[in-house]
Amino acid sequence: MATILFFLILAIVLSILLFLSRLKPYCECEICKSYLNSTWSLEFKNLCDWYSYLLKKSPTGTIHVHVLGNVITSNPNNVEYMLKTNFDNFPKGKQFSTILGDLLGRGIFAVDGEMWKFQRKMASLELGRVSIRSYAFDIVSDEIRNRLIPLLESNIHTVLDLQDVLRRFSFDSICKFSFGMDPGCLKLSLPDSDLQESFDLASKLSAERAMTVSPLVWKIKRSLNIGSEKKLKEAIEKVDVLAEEVIIQKRKNDFSSQNDVLSRFMRNIDDDKLLRDIIVSFLLAGRDTVASGLTTFFWLLAQHPHVINEIRAESNRVMGKTVNGTLATFEGIREMHFLTAAIHESIRLFPPVQFDSKFCQEDDTLPDGTFVAKGTRVTYHPYAMGRMEGIWGKDCLEFKPERWLEDGVFKAQCPFKYPVFQGGVRVCLGKDLSIVEMKSVALALIRQFDFQVHLAKDQAPKFMPGLTATVRGGLPIMVQKRREQ
Ligand code: HEM
Repeated sequence: MATILFFLILAIVLSILLFLSRLKPYCECEICKSYLNSTWSLEFKNLCDWYSYLLKKSPTGTIHVHVLGNVITSNPNNVEYMLKTNFDNFPKGKQFSTILGDLLGRGIFAVDGEMWKFQRKMASLELGRVSIRSYAFDIVSDEIRNRLIPLLESNIHTVLDLQDVLRRFSFDSICKFSFGMDPGCLKLSLPDSDLQESFDLASKLSAERAMTVSPLVWKIKRSLNIGSEKKLKEAIEKVDVLAEEVIIQKRKNDFSSQNDVLSRFMRNIDDDKLLRDIIVSFLLAGRDTVASGLTTFFWLLAQHPHVINEIRAESNRVMGKTVNGTLATFEGIREMHFLTAAIHESIRLFPPVQFDSKFCQEDDTLPDGTFVAKGTRVTYHPYAMGRMEGIWGKDCLEFKPERWLEDGVFKAQCPFKYPVFQGGVRVCLGKDLSIVEMKSVALALIRQFDFQVHLAKDQAPKFMPGLTATVRGGLPIMVQKRREQ
C-alpha cells in the first residue's frame, strides 16, 4: 500500500513539474502577474471586462495569457481565419473534450471529425426543415400563454427573479422541442426538477474545471473522487438516469412519426449512450443561452424605457392595440424589425456565450501576425468584440437598436465581427429558432406587463463563471399588468 502511495505521489509531483514547465507560471509580464494575483479584480467587475480592456489596448486586438497557454482575440480577421478559412487547424481538440467529456460525452459540442459531421448533418436536416419553425413557435407560444403569463399574473407586486423564471421557461421549451417531453418547470408552483438541478450543477462544475490553472488539480480530485469532482460525478449520474428515462419513454411511444429532434436521431442511432450525449448537448445548446440572452435584454430595457416604447409602438402597428391575451403570430413576429434589432443589439453587448475556444493543431500564424504554436488554446471573445470601437464605432458601449436598421429594415452583420452564434463551419444551428423564441417572450411581456427591475441603475451585471453567462444574484423584477391602451 505504502509503495503504491509513494508512486502515486511521485507521479503527481512529476506531472505537476512537467505541466508547470510547459505553462510558464513564472511569466513576469503584467497580464500574467495580474491574472495570477487576481489584481485585475480590483478594477474590473468581471474577467471578461478586464479582457475587453486589454484587447482594446492591444494594437492587433489579440493578447496572450502565457500562464494559461491561451491566445485571446477580438480581431474579426483572426476569427474568420479560425472559424472558416483554416477551420481544420482549429478543432475543439482533446483538451476541450477532456474538460467537458464527462458531461457531454460524444455529443455535438464536444467532438470533431466524423462524429461531429454525422451529428451536424442529422441536426441540420432537422433544424433546417421549414415546418420546424412553426413547430417550435407553437411550443414557445403555448408555454408563454399557459405558463409564463399566468405565473406573472399571479405574482403581481411580488419581487420575482426573472432569470430563474426564464431559465425554467427555456428548459421546458427546449425539452418539449428536442425530446417531446415536458418537465413542467414553469408550472405555477415552480416545482423543483431533478433533471434541471442536476444538469445545472454538472455544467457549473464542468466549467469550473476549465478555470483551474492546472488540469491536474481536478484530475487528481476526480481520481480520488473527492470534493467538487465527487459532486460532479453524482450530478452526472443523475443526468444519466433521467436521460435514460427519456429514451425509454420515447421507445415505449412510437417515435417513428414524432417531430422532435431526438426522435429523428433515434430513427438512425441504436446506441443509447450516444443518444444520452445528444440529449445533454441539446439541453446545453438551447436552454441557458436563450435564458441568458433574455435576462440581460430585460436589464438593458429597464435602463432604456424609450426602447420599450418603440417596441410597443411597432407591435401596435403590426398586431393592433389590444394587449390582453393576444400573442403575435409567426408572420407578425417576423415583421417586427425594430424588435429583431433590439434583441441583436442586446446580445451584442451581452452575448450568452461570452468566449469560445479552439485548440491549434499545427503551428500557425493568424492574419494579424500572431504566431500560434501547436497545442495553444485560441479564444475568440464575442463579449469584448461587442465593445470595440474599431468594429462598432465610437458609440460601441451604447445600447442602440437603430444601428441594425437600414430604412427601418433589419440588416444582419458579418458573423466574424459578431460571432455571438459562432460563425463559419460550426455556426449555431439554433440561431433562427432562438431569435424567434426571444422575440416571442420579450414581446409578450412588454405588451402585457409593466416591469421594474430592482437593481441600482448603474449596477452592471456581475456574471458567474460558467459555460453560458449567468447573472450573479439573478434579475429581481416586479411586474404589473398593463391596461388596454
Ligand atoms: C441565444 C441563443 C443561442 C446562442 C447565443 C447560441 C450560440 C452558439 C454558439 C456560440 C455555438 C458554438 C459553440 C461551440 O462550438 O463551442 C453554438 C453551437 C450550437 N448551437 Fe447555439 N446558440 C443559441 C441557441 C441555440 C438553440 C436554441 C439551439 C437548438 C435548438 C442551438 C443549437 C446549437 C447546436 C446544435 C450547436 C453546435 C453546432 C456545431 O458544433 O456544429 N443553439 N451556439
